[in-house]
Amino acid sequence: MPDPVTSRPLRSRAWFDNPDNIDMTSLYLERYLNFGLSLEELRSGKPIIGIAQTGSDLSPCNRHHLVLAERVREGIREAGGIAIEFPVHPIQETGKRPTAGLDRNLAYMALVELLYGYPLDGVVLTVGCDKTTPAMLMAAATVNIPAIALSVGPMLNGWHKGERTGSGTIVWKARQMLAAGEIDEAGFIKLVASSAPSTGYCNTMGTATTMNSLAEALGMQLPGSAAIPAPYRDRQEISYRTGLRIVDMVREDLKPSDILTREAFLNAIVVNSAIGGSTNAPIHLAAIARHVGADLELKDWETHGHKVPLLVNLQPAGEYLGEDYYRAGGVPAVVAQLMKQGLIHEDAITANGRSIGENCRDATIEDEKVIRPLERPLREAAGFIVLSGNLFDAAIMKTSVIDDEFRNRYLSNPDDPDAFEGPAIVFDGPEDYHHRIDDPALNITPETLMFMRGAGPIGYPGAAEVVNMRPPAYLIREGVHALPCIGDGRQSGTSGSPSILNASPEAAAMGGLALIRTGDRVRIDLRKGSADVLIPNEELAERRRALVEAGGYAYPASQTPWQEMQRAVVGQMNTGAILEGSEKYQRIAQT
Ligand code: FES
Ligand code: MG
Repeated sequence: MPDPVTSRPLRSRAWFDNPDNIDMTSLYLERYLNFGLSLEELRSGKPIIGIAQTGSDLSPCNRHHLVLAERVREGIREAGGIAIEFPVHPIQETGKRPTAGLDRNLAYMALVELLYGYPLDGVVLTVGCDKTTPAMLMAAATVNIPAIALSVGPMLNGWHKGERTGSGTIVWKARQMLAAGEIDEAGFIKLVASSAPSTGYCNTMGTATTMNSLAEALGMQLPGSAAIPAPYRDRQEISYRTGLRIVDMVREDLKPSDILTREAFLNAIVVNSAIGGSTNAPIHLAAIARHVGADLELKDWETHGHKVPLLVNLQPAGEYLGEDYYRAGGVPAVVAQLMKQGLIHEDAITANGRSIGENCRDATIEDEKVIRPLERPLREAAGFIVLSGNLFDAAIMKTSVIDDEFRNRYLSNPDDPDAFEGPAIVFDGPEDYHHRIDDPALNITPETLMFMRGAGPIGYPGAAEVVNMRPPAYLIREGVHALPCIGDGRQSGTSGSPSILNASPEAAAMGGLALIRTGDRVRIDLRKGSADVLIPNEELAERRRALVEAGGYAYPASQTPWQEMQRAVVGQMNTGAILEGSEKYQRIAQT
């Protein structure tokens, strides 16, 4: 039976109402009756809406979705749909060994199978913790059934002695305090625990808040929904409205490919600069774009994003946290500011069926300490720059977190204000760094540039968030809080380190980082966007030849079947670190 509202045949009809194959129809029907649906209901032609559930005890950041799903269900039913909730592979950013990055593509692949292989007409994607958002958007892009994301929302603000303590960001601060002897281990744990006062995801502008804000900027969730803290009543209400809305999206046949256009991605890039978003965003947006077939290059981040000012005053680039962001107006208030400068493609269509321009035009800033008006930004030109040279083809640097100490030490030479040079100290993976960083024999000085390699998608499967290395304890005690860090790994979005990261190709893929040695001099020029080891080409070629002969850059063996499979096909971070070849499956469920 066709949908009674639109009279368009629904995808689920092929399972439950297929006169050409009554055997299979009956088999499908009898089993789906098990959880209480009636035959009439299943054959009524009502849209069947999946609730792809990422919450579980293993993924505490998203766990509140178990509660919110009840409100989603009520919305779906109220709008005339049938809700079917199912689990997806959980990903918890900080708990998963060796990396949560490894599981993004696994969750992607598994969700593609679920969305493609079962009788679903549309889906609510319950997103939150860092990798859950891109994994689910990537899958929805591939399958291309109507889909809407629902953020679980950030935790409430953390507090310690009257000051805000933010997820992750407090860890980077606490480890410096511990290294400097200002706190003991118990004090360390207490300080960090204070940053997590409720259910929800990281309350800083880490990768979770970033990716949820960008899911909204892309148009994949209801306007104003990304920033609502998890425990707020508004979060329950938006869950209900998301349930209502997905049923209409099915009736309107509004699909991810209609929403995830190049213009939508460019909007997300601009918003990312204005919110001070995570350096993981370029990886994930590249992945989503490739799965939906939208044209997006790493260079677009610099071309369209670098000049955009920082408006949102959230840690790590600023002072405030998630509750403040929501109260100040969230994503719509930011977009409205950017629209004044013509920085937003206003016609891009969003999940509510209206354009982003229509949705955000009248949004106001409710607290200018937290979201600055465009005329008074926290920082000008706050986006990423893209670097290349003989060390790598592409890496990015988040300029909004360059603080005065770093600027004065490295970027204040009047003859050469945007460049710095120094000797390299090279670490092979995070374990090597942790073992050796405080060894005085390394002779690390304020001039040293610290390198982390063997931490990319192949070398440390999934790519480890380890490039933001702290200096040795003796330098911190002397007041040196950050050295330039460069690496083929990632960095937590909660870190305020102005590292040069996501370097591609990684050492394990025999990129230039595989050739650098401790003691080599390196020059970084931010204006030119160059990063080079100052060694003649002939010598680099000789080092490469010798390394290839020795079997290539060595990295630890795989520990699980999935690590081995992913390592065989994963691409580099500048192109999304997706499973290469999977992008040829596009719009696979289109009816
Ligand atoms: Fe899950 Fe930060 S660790 S959101
Ligand atoms: Mg992270």
